[in-house]
Amino acid sequence: MPQRVRTAVFPVAGLGTRFLPATKAMPKEMLTVVDRPLIQYAVDEAREAGIEHFVFVTGRNKGVIEDHFDRQFELEQTLEVRGKTEALRELQKDLPSAGRTSFTRQQEPLGLGHAVWCARELVGNQPFALLLPDMIFRATPGVLKQMMQAYEETGGNIIGVEEVDPAETASYGIVARGEGPDSGFRITGMVEKPEPKDAPSNLFISGRYILQPEIFTLLAEQPRGTGGEIQLTDAMQTLIRQQVFTGVKYDGKVFDCGSKIGFLTANVVFALDRPDLADDFRKAVAHLL
Ligand code: G1P
Repeated sequence: MPQRVRTAVFPVAGLGTRFLPATKAMPKEMLTVVDRPLIQYAVDEAREAGIEHFVFVTGRNKGVIEDHFDRQFELEQTLEVRGKTEALRELQKDLPSAGRTSFTRQQEPLGLGHAVWCARELVGNQPFALLLPDMIFRATPGVLKQMMQAYEETGGNIIGVEEVDPAETASYGIVARGEGPDSGFRITGMVEKPEPKDAPSNLFISGRYILQPEIFTLLAEQPRGTGGEIQLTDAMQTLIRQQVFTGVKYDGKVFDCGSKIGFLTANVVFALDRPDLADDFRKAVAHLL
């Protein structure tokens, strides 16, 4: 049995420049899809997969995220007095238990690889999950849970992948596919943001990972790559020479909420999935179109 994964890292230090002015004073991870902030979707997915310790790599102006995962006594009391017990229960259910969150800061925007490296002391010498909160999924069970099933069989490192339009490979990390089924195939290589002609496949890294702690040692030495940033994909490409990487082409679909179209689409799709909103929202949209 591989060592259990109990810690998840959430890099939330990004500046969110694509969503200005919304993100001038508010973290992009607090943008809402229907009525839940993006970060809540990622935390819920991690919890469903059995994660017990939630590590956030934050930056300046991100204090609201810490508040979001804390109790809000005044609000809770008001809900209680007004008899809004359902809303109160929902709020309490969303919270990680006491002592199960940790926060550290990425002091400079040096890239995703550097953000992950900033979590090394909090994670320690154990495997961990990594969830990029810009990416949210319509998937049952959740994508990380599906990846945990593969991890229990193979151990090592696991990367969630999905097909991308071959014209868009330069926006993502792309993996080379080796032997094995969609539920767990060997990854033989990976490249960060290749031009379509250089892409080893159309399978892109959609923001969910299970990684072994040796990645931290490599990240410490990782030179800057694409975009002048310290790239996680480059360090994983080095680790692949020593450890197994398994790809999981999960059952589900990602919405890239780092892009405006992805974010707006997610709002429509998730609203249409909500029993309390679907009928009225469908009518309102049909009327508009
Ligand atoms: C990062 C990763 C990339 C991955 C993407 C998913 O890129 O480096 O491999 O495909 O997230 O969102 P970023 O979006 O930070 O440029």
